[in-house]
Amino acid sequence: MIDFDTILQRKGTNCHKWDSLVSEYGKDNDIIPMGIADMDFPCSDEILAALRKKIDERAFGYCEDPLDGLRELIVERYNARDYNITADDIVIATGVVYAINNVIRAFSKPGDKIVLPVPYYTPFRPLVEKNGCQVLECPMVIRNGRYEMDLAAIEDAVDERTTMFIFCNPHNPTGRIFDEDELREVADFCQRHALWIINDEIHADFTLNKPMRSILNISEYTRSHTFTFLSATKTFNLAGMKMSFGFITDPQCRDRYHQQAGLTGLESINSLAPEAVKAAYRSSALWEKGLIDYLRANCAYACQFIKERLPQITVYPNEGTYLLWLDMRNCGIEAEKLNEYLINEAHVQLNDGVYYGRQFAGYQRMNCALPLSQLREALERMEKALNR
Ligand SMILES: Cc1ncc(COP(=O)(O)O)c(C=O)c1O
Repeated sequence: MIDFDTILQRKGTNCHKWDSLVSEYGKDNDIIPMGIADMDFPCSDEILAALRKKIDERAFGYCEDPLDGLRELIVERYNARDYNITADDIVIATGVVYAINNVIRAFSKPGDKIVLPVPYYTPFRPLVEKNGCQVLECPMVIRNGRYEMDLAAIEDAVDERTTMFIFCNPHNPTGRIFDEDELREVADFCQRHALWIINDEIHADFTLNKPMRSILNISEYTRSHTFTFLSATKTFNLAGMKMSFGFITDPQCRDRYHQQAGLTGLESINSLAPEAVKAAYRSSALWEKGLIDYLRANCAYACQFIKERLPQITVYPNEGTYLLWLDMRNCGIEAEKLNEYLINEAHVQLNDGVYYGRQFAGYQRMNCALPLSQLREALERMEKALNR
């Protein structure tokens, strides 16, 4: 049995999730951070042992081949799902956000329009806009109590300058895992309009409440027009290690990707990271299974708590990810003040909905990847503050 209950002291360790609160609220604040998507759990013993072994080499020069010993592990892991990839399809990057930037730079021109479903993972908008492109927002609408894409709403706005679609599955922040027919709709839409598909699947291991298919293999078109990015960093709590990978199955597209990457050093990796990822994929399966079970139970606990004791909040139960999307517009607090209110009155930090789209004032995103005792404490604090 793996221990996810012990509280890990992260404050004061130059940890963004905890220490970003220090400058504003002091080092003695007792705020429980449930914002930024990393987890308050120690890494698996296997990963820690692999890193110690590497550290014992006492020198950390450049990697000869960052994927050495890892290619086979990635192919095996993802072909056990429905990816159908070969070792040649793998590309590497210091992070998914950097990799997406690389694709935008290599495959679009300033002035292009890039489709972005809304709400969206915060960095997507600046990635588009700072590369001189325009965001074409595709609204996600609530049907049958869940967020779905409304592709029909943008059909007429797509024109010859529209070149890409940024797809995120499992979806941050709504926690959706898209059904196969939804993937087909996105695939058909992209084919109809000749769009490249940027496919962010960084949360693909968090299939908590539903299995997932990748859009990569939905059609011949998606197979040759999709840039899929994943990593072990979310799943195994290695985000600061900075290493991700992707699948580009078309050799010409891959060449173009590499050419652009060569301008920036994108494919040069921290030499500790591959050791951690190999240990994750080779020997941390038990830890991973324990984690997924723990997160599933945490998210179910939070949803139930909110339904019973905070009925003024609408919670959208997550199919994937460990993130819950909360509509808090009925809490009687001005949307602009909600985040501060939660910090000052409940000593709990969530992420403000407006990070995910201007229209989401009054919403919050809650990260449930923390020990259950802290999650329970955070929810009880919210109950006290909001039911006053
Ligand atoms: C959807 C999504 N993409 C990308 C990232 C960041 O990935 P990286 O740290 O590899 O750039 C995150 C982190 O929260 C995320 O949620």
